[in-house]
Amino acid sequence: MTADEAQRTMQRLAEEISRHNRLYHDLDQPEISDAEYDQLVAELMRLESAYPDWVPSDSPLQRVGSGPSGPLASVRFEQPVLSLGNLHDSQELVDFDGRLRHLLGHTDPPAYTAELKIDGLTIIVDYQDGHLVRAATRGDGLVGEDVTANVRQIHQVPTRLQTAVSGQFRGEVYMSRSVFASLNQSRAAAGLPVFANPRNAAAGSLRQLDPAITASRQVSAFFYEIRALDGHPMPSGQFQALGWLRAWGMPVAPHSRRCGSLTEVLAYIAGWEDPQARAALDFEIDGLVIKLDSTAEQRLAGATQKAPRWAMAFKFAPEEVLTRVRAITISVGRTGVLTPTAELEPVRLAGTLVSRASLHNADILDERDVRVGDTVYVRKAGEIIPEVVRVERSLRPAETVRFAFPGQCPVCGADVVRLPGESAYRCTGGMRCPAQIRQSLIHFASRGAMDIEGLGEKTVDLLLAQQLVGSVDDLYRLTADQLGGLPRFGELSAANLLRSIEQSKGRPLSRVLYGLGIRYVGEKVAQVLARYFGSMDAVMAASRERLREIPEVGERIADSLARFFEQPANRAAISALNRLGVNLIEPADEAARGGDGPLAGLSGVVTGTLARMSRKQIEEFVRAQGGDLTSSVSSRTDFVVAGQKAGSKLDKARQLGIRVLSEEEFFDWIAKGETGMAR
Ligand code: IVH
Repeated sequence: MTADEAQRTMQRLAEEISRHNRLYHDLDQPEISDAEYDQLVAELMRLESAYPDWVPSDSPLQRVGSGPSGPLASVRFEQPVLSLGNLHDSQELVDFDGRLRHLLGHTDPPAYTAELKIDGLTIIVDYQDGHLVRAATRGDGLVGEDVTANVRQIHQVPTRLQTAVSGQFRGEVYMSRSVFASLNQSRAAAGLPVFANPRNAAAGSLRQLDPAITASRQVSAFFYEIRALDGHPMPSGQFQALGWLRAWGMPVAPHSRRCGSLTEVLAYIAGWEDPQARAALDFEIDGLVIKLDSTAEQRLAGATQKAPRWAMAFKFAPEEVLTRVRAITISVGRTGVLTPTAELEPVRLAGTLVSRASLHNADILDERDVRVGDTVYVRKAGEIIPEVVRVERSLRPAETVRFAFPGQCPVCGADVVRLPGESAYRCTGGMRCPAQIRQSLIHFASRGAMDIEGLGEKTVDLLLAQQLVGSVDDLYRLTADQLGGLPRFGELSAANLLRSIEQSKGRPLSRVLYGLGIRYVGEKVAQVLARYFGSMDAVMAASRERLREIPEVGERIADSLARFFEQPANRAAISALNRLGVNLIEPADEAARGGDGPLAGLSGVVTGTLARMSRKQIEEFVRAQGGDLTSSVSSRTDFVVAGQKAGSKLDKARQLGIRVLSEEEFFDWIAKGETGMAR
């Protein structure tokens, strides 16, 4: 490579790495894997050391990370928040150990603490006399974002320690796999975009202006470093530091180990390289961290501008395999979204045989330019769902063509549109599209909706194949004769199914509204609408403006509802449901609207953690008393119940002069019958 070429390549790499830094840190939307990112960085590092005179002035390697992007307040750190260097194999680990021994002038092997490397987002927390006073993200390592109000909403992070220590600790905010799975499930059901992996979901939940979002998303945290202690000696080593943090009440990740020798470190690594060991954890790790144990030795080893010399991240080899794309198929979801999937030559990946992989959406497919006939790298995204990561261009056959989304729905032939600003193509067939009918029937019968036992995917497919149903109202026209004639369907199952269908007629309006599968109308919004309006007729008659008056209903939801009810086919299905005896009213005990309970006509907000009741219990309690609970404080709020760790909602209520009650005061208020005065 000539110096000229090197300079150009360095510039290009610097720009590319900066772009990926922004995608990862600011937008929480990484486009490449950590391993690919590391390769880019390694190449730029190699060139920067070979051509030090040509180092680009804006090289991302000369900075610690990327700066804060959002409108959250800034926090300047006294000591920079460093990152970690990476190790990829045992030889690199042996070299690291050799470097340290050399630096320390050791002949004896140094001791290490080996830990799980949590795949989340760094936070730095400050405690004063045992009280949490500040929490910040890492930002660029010098200036981070103030997320104190949000971190207060994380139950695992104590607002008060068991001991009155003052100091600064570092940890990682993450989202457990189980919370991630259910969050994405409910987002998908409400027609919202899903998060690509738990790390993005955790980051997106923490870096929010509204702490209620952090609270509702159930993120967690683990701490692993004591950065400073006031008036208290520092621990003698890393393993002791973890013990102290745990004893003070901080959450500390399991499975850390003090290793007396390099052999023990290697055994620890070997244990966690087994994908099954990682799969058994309910949180994701993207490697291990190997730290020189002794605090005194850490000081001796020191740090570079970017990272300590005494600790290294051991990255697992990404589980990626190469295979060929046989076809790209399109499936049509309940809301008509066309989702592309790569049909692959079957290949083993992380213990399972994979023959299909997600291509996510049109934007991602376009950018990765995956074509039929291509050889591609497939990976388990978030180690769960396989996805096509990228194409191996050198193996692309000559005759391939760029994939184009069809102009017509592959299932019903209706036109396909792409709304401005959306990455999805949609079928416009609505309830005339069999794919949408299938998905909508499955959704209508599902547990959170009409809960029709025995009406799962297989039965829906049977009914569709026999052309017995074309829309949800047809379910209520089914007869014993029709069902008895279905293949593999005995008299007993027919009778059982008819009974469950009959039972479903009495479900409250909120379930019907949710079951209709209106975009953005999830279970919660459906409940709010049902309780607010009381009847389907009133919901259908509401204008966009009227809908917008409800605190939980934004423009997007109002629009989606209005569009749904404008469709003659949807209106026809609803009046058919009515004629066939399906309840379209919210029962008084559910709605508690205009009732005569002590909270009738009052709207409240609960913030912080309550000691006596769970969130669900208090919601039920308030409704049973005739009141309503909303998620945000506005001028229409009548009262706010503030529990522990109450944050910005409490501030807002005070600003607006709204009645604020502690949990005890709230129950007293009701018991004493003083609520009438609030009206
Ligand atoms: S130690 C000077 N320990 O990994 C201390 N980091 O890729 C440096 N991380 O930015 C960090 N788990 O956010 C350390 N057990 C652990 C960790 C951990 C996750 C994160 C941390 C760091 C990143 C480096």
